[in-house]
Amino acid sequence: DNTITNEDNSFGSQHKTSFVFKGEENTVTGTLALSVFTAVLGSLQFGYNIGVINAPQKIIEQDYNETWVHRYGESIPTGTLTSLWSLSVAIFSIGGMLSSSCVGFASEWLGRRKAMLINNLFAFIGGSLMGMSKICRSFEMMILGRFIIGAYCGLASGLTPMYVGEIAPTSLRGALGTLHQLAIVTGILIAQILGLEALLGSEELWPVLMGVTVVPTVLQMALLPFCPESPRFLYIVRCQEHHAKSGLRRLTGRLEVGDMLAEMKEEKRRMDMERKVSILELFRSPLYRQPIIISILLQLSQQLSGINAIFYYSTSIFMKAGVQSPVYATIGAGVVNCAFTVVSLFLVERMGRRTLHMLGLGGMCICAIIMTMALALLDSVPWMSYISMLAIYAFVGFFEVGPGPIPWFFVAELFSQGPRPAAMAVAGCSNWTANFIVGMGFQYVADLCGPYVFLIFAFLLLFFLIFTFFRVPETRGKTFDQIAANFQSPGGGMMDMDMDMDMDKPSTELDYLGEEGL
Ligand code: GLC
Repeated sequence: DNTITNEDNSFGSQHKTSFVFKGEENTVTGTLALSVFTAVLGSLQFGYNIGVINAPQKIIEQDYNETWVHRYGESIPTGTLTSLWSLSVAIFSIGGMLSSSCVGFASEWLGRRKAMLINNLFAFIGGSLMGMSKICRSFEMMILGRFIIGAYCGLASGLTPMYVGEIAPTSLRGALGTLHQLAIVTGILIAQILGLEALLGSEELWPVLMGVTVVPTVLQMALLPFCPESPRFLYIVRCQEHHAKSGLRRLTGRLEVGDMLAEMKEEKRRMDMERKVSILELFRSPLYRQPIIISILLQLSQQLSGINAIFYYSTSIFMKAGVQSPVYATIGAGVVNCAFTVVSLFLVERMGRRTLHMLGLGGMCICAIIMTMALALLDSVPWMSYISMLAIYAFVGFFEVGPGPIPWFFVAELFSQGPRPAAMAVAGCSNWTANFIVGMGFQYVADLCGPYVFLIFAFLLLFFLIFTFFRVPETRGKTFDQIAANFQSPGGGMMDMDMDMDMDKPSTELDYLGEEGL
């Protein structure tokens, strides 16, 4: 079943030829599986370091106090302790904000694979500093370690989806892209479980809990040399046709990769006609303005949905909701989080990104309203604590259906090779900034608004839902070049883009825009 279907399609203002190897597009070779697994080890650490700080808070604070007593002969003032702790939590996102804006530069200069390899140095240094901070009686080391591991995660949050998106066959780009999020949520869950006091969340063992993040680092460093560099990068950016070809052969397990090279050639031809795309240019050029606004808003929809209010503060939210054993309820949220990411993995190539994202945002919005009502009624109706717990679980579940995984790989899909690195940097930085704002601001706003705090998220979710409905195109089954070309049609063509929700349609064959499409 190796026939090349060579169709002439009108796409945007261009006339171009595309090829599809029927059936074969879906093959996951050993090399592809290994490469994706190795790349998402970075995402695993990202998740681990999001989740790790929640459970052992009190124990680590105790150690900060001991250090203070050791140094100054008196207990640490409460205000100072709160500031030191907030700093330890939030500096992670600052590291991420700064480093994610360097994703473009690092991935172009070093290549995707080498950038991931060298990034591990950050994880190694960050993990070691945190792991040794207790022995060295230094909360400064812990804070610096959190900053450096945040920098690692910021780079990983851009490099991983970029690499995976570039090596994945078109028909599996969404499913493999979702693995980035699956690894993040697995990391969060592992951290929640290991953080239990009976495991590593104890007074003696918390440094191990912090330092264990270097294990996936070492594994990733050992495996990366066996993974091919992104052939798209090699061919389109570095002009190394020979190396790109051999990478493609390894990744697809096919000898004949001419069809894929042809597609890249087209993208390269187009890229060669463009000037190098800087971050500023993304906003200036009418070609990129729409996709970059969509990218930023998708990242904001992920973070301003309020998900990390749950993941950073779930224990105290469950406590306020009157749930017994809030720590285990938090782990329950982690399990729901993982389960629904798997659901998304299976749906994303069938239902498409747009539908799932809207479903997730809509569901979260309803859950946020139910949660608010349940919390407001808690005093008069005690069983409302169960309703609020269920609403929180459903909130997390809906998040992972769409807003969790989709924004991460969607940005890589919206841009062709030229502007992609700059776009990933802008999107990543927006994500981390919003993450920082929610992480820092939530507790203050929650104190001000009481049970009504989630109404703010409900309102924002509604706004993002409407935005997605009117502005976000479907990218399922389309090549990078086709997606980019859509934005180049007169008027941007956003609403013209295929928004089909045909679930029976196999996505191995490219869905082209309808005749009337553009
Ligand atoms: C996404 C978000 C991250 C969040 C996680 C929860 O990866 O980027 O901030 O903590 O999902 O599963």
